[in-house]
Amino acid sequence: MGCRLQLWKLSYVSIATAPGAMLEADVRTICALAQPHNLRANITGILTYQKGRFAQLLEGPKTELQALMARIAVDSRHHSVKLIVDGPTHIRRYADWSMAYLDPKEFMRNQIDDLLEQTAIVAEAVSSSLH
Ligand SMILES: Cc1cc2nc3c(=O)[nH]c(=O)nc-3n(C[C@H](O)[C@H](O)[C@H](O)COP(=O)(O)O)c2cc1C
Repeated sequence: MGCRLQLWKLSYVSIATAPGAMLEADVRTICALAQPHNLRANITGILTYQKGRFAQLLEGPKTELQALMARIAVDSRHHSVKLIVDGPTHIRRYADWSMAYLDPKEFMRNQIDDLLEQTAIVAEAVSSSLH
C-alpha cells in the first residue's frame, strides 16, 4: 500500500485550558469549524468533552492526519495532549462523520465496540492459523 495514502488512526486525551469556560456549545463549535477542513483532507472522527478533558479520535490518510494533529497539539484551548493510539488501520469506522461531537458515554461505547471487533478479528486470525 502506498505510504502517503495509508489509512491511519489517531486518538488522544487532553486537558482544557479553561475548563470552567468550556461549554458543550463550544465543543460543538470546534466540531462545526473542523468539519469543512476534515472533509477536504478526507479525515473523519469523533470528539467528546467531560470534566475539563477532551478525547478525540481521528482517522484518514497518514500525512494529512499527522499534519492536523500537529496543529491541534499547539491549540491554546487545551494542553497536556497525550496520544493513545497512533498507527495504521484497515477500516474507517466513522466514515459518515467528518467530525462528530458525541457525549462521553456514546464516545466510550464506540471505543468499546471497536475494541471488541478488533479482538474478534484477532481471535479469528489465530484460530484459522491453527487449522
Ligand atoms: C479539542 C480540539 C479538537 C480539534 N479538532 C479539529 C479537527 O478535527 N479538525 C480541524 O481542522 N481542527 C480541529 N481543531 C482546531 C485546530 O486546533 C485549529 O484551530 C484549526 O484547525 C485551525 O487551524 P489554523 O488556525 O492553523 O488554520 C480542534 C481543536 C481542539 C481544541
